[in-house]
Amino acid sequence: MITVHVLNGPNLNLLGRREPNVYGSMNLPEIEQLVREKADALGASITFRQSNHEGHLVDWIQEAGVQGAGVVINAGAYTHTSIAIRDAIAGSGAPTVEIHLSNVHAREGFRHRSFIAPVSVGVICGFGPMSYLLGLEAIHRVMVERAQQAKPSTH
Ligand code: DQA
Repeated sequence: MITVHVLNGPNLNLLGRREPNVYGSMNLPEIEQLVREKADALGASITFRQSNHEGHLVDWIQEAGVQGAGVVINAGAYTHTSIAIRDAIAGSGAPTVEIHLSNVHAREGFRHRSFIAPVSVGVICGFGPMSYLLGLEAIHRVMVERAQQAKPSTH
């Protein structure tokens, strides 16, 4: 079964009351519920976690790599600053999709740079909670395709 770790970085525990004009009114447990429903529909297994601490995110990315799991990550502000998270993604080998609720490219200049985009399979941003569902679907497809390619040919 395909396993995906959905990881959330700093301040995402405040969703629902944090700048609702930017991030919407849905809180993180509500987003988790949507993600779980999507995972069930895909037949995928997920873990869903949040931390305000960079090292926790690094540990969890490494864990995904060891388990052969994929990663969907909203690294919050660490997206724009963290070489440690970038190195964890590159070093763990866990296929990763970077996501954001907001369209970071339509916001302040400092949000336009991502340290993790170059080591991710792709980036999804600007769709609110739907970014999580699109991210899960994307990484699931990538992992299914890679598993098929890895199978020895029968003819
Ligand atoms: C965010 C965008 C980041 O720039 C910001 O620091 C966040 C949330 C988003 O989901 O839109 O914390 O990752």
